[in-house]
Amino acid sequence: MNRLSTGLKKIVFKNPVTVASGTFGKEYNQYFDLNKLGAIVTKTITNNPKAGNHPPRLVETTGGLINSIGLQNPGIVRFCRDILPEYRSILDETTPLIVSFSASTINEFVDMIKTLEDNEGIEGYEVNISCPNVEKEGISFGVDAPQVYELTNKLRKAISSKRELIIKLTPNVTDITEIAIAAVDAGCDSLALINTLMGMKIDWCSGKPMIKKGFGGLSGPAIMPIALYNVFKVANKVDVPILAMGGITSYQDALEFIFAGASAVAVGTANFVNPYSTVDVITGLKDYCIKNDIAITKIIGKTLTFC
Ligand SMILES: Cc1cc2nc3c(=O)[nH]c(=O)nc-3n(C[C@H](O)[C@H](O)[C@H](O)COP(=O)(O)O)c2cc1C
Repeated sequence: MNRLSTGLKKIVFKNPVTVASGTFGKEYNQYFDLNKLGAIVTKTITNNPKAGNHPPRLVETTGGLINSIGLQNPGIVRFCRDILPEYRSILDETTPLIVSFSASTINEFVDMIKTLEDNEGIEGYEVNISCPNVEKEGISFGVDAPQVYELTNKLRKAISSKRELIIKLTPNVTDITEIAIAAVDAGCDSLALINTLMGMKIDWCSGKPMIKKGFGGLSGPAIMPIALYNVFKVANKVDVPILAMGGITSYQDALEFIFAGASAVAVGTANFVNPYSTVDVITGLKDYCIKNDIAITKIIGKTLTFC
């Protein structure tokens, strides 16, 4: 019996642990067999290659990290030609591959998903909506419920029913449940949350921002209580599986998210501190399940009733 088995709506995970987009790559295969993971989520790709923002674009804060990478990526053509086959050669059939992608108009999102649909070896899509919509004065897709509804609805119609459609939510909104409801009503299979929180750090000596662009996205343990609260709120409002992330560094952190309502969790910034973080979390969850004689699915969302 595999006590760690869980999943999203259409994807089975052999354990609840995957990686947060942009914090992990196939290079980690030199540290451990990537097939130990419940799934892999790729770095967000865009239609055209992106060089990313000028450095400095990473700065540490107390318990956290601010990044302003600017979605540096090789673009969808190179992704499908080079990166996807490399992942598929590493991953076996027990390790689903989830492709994260982003665009600057709804039509561009739809065109990208059509291209991805022509490629084998993808079990799901994580749609990164924390990006500006150039047709709506650059307002981020993810902060506007009607835009999220329209985008999700169009993507739903463009993808095969076998592949998971995951919408990744930004916490930089007044009410994250409003956005979650829009995505669910429009037909997403599951939700991922949270993306980074906007943050800033200034060199107190010179007065200069320590990120070239001035600000960036805060991640790491500092954001975990906020992420947990958002997951709890969303899980109590909608009835789709949640892939949770935000500051997870240990199996105990992962358990908190599972109790709050997550079906699976992603480890992000912790990968930079300890490349074995994900496998350590898996080992910890396994021992916990054996010790308590339970299956992990039994405690999803049971924060108030379990114990
Ligand atoms: C350096 C860095 C790059 C990131 N790149 C992406 C990205 O390409 N796409 C995305 O959806 N999220 C990206 N994120 C956000 C993470 O996937 C995750 O949602 C966030 O960092 C919270 O998890 P954590 O605190 O465990 O890192 C990035 C985060 C970091 C630190």
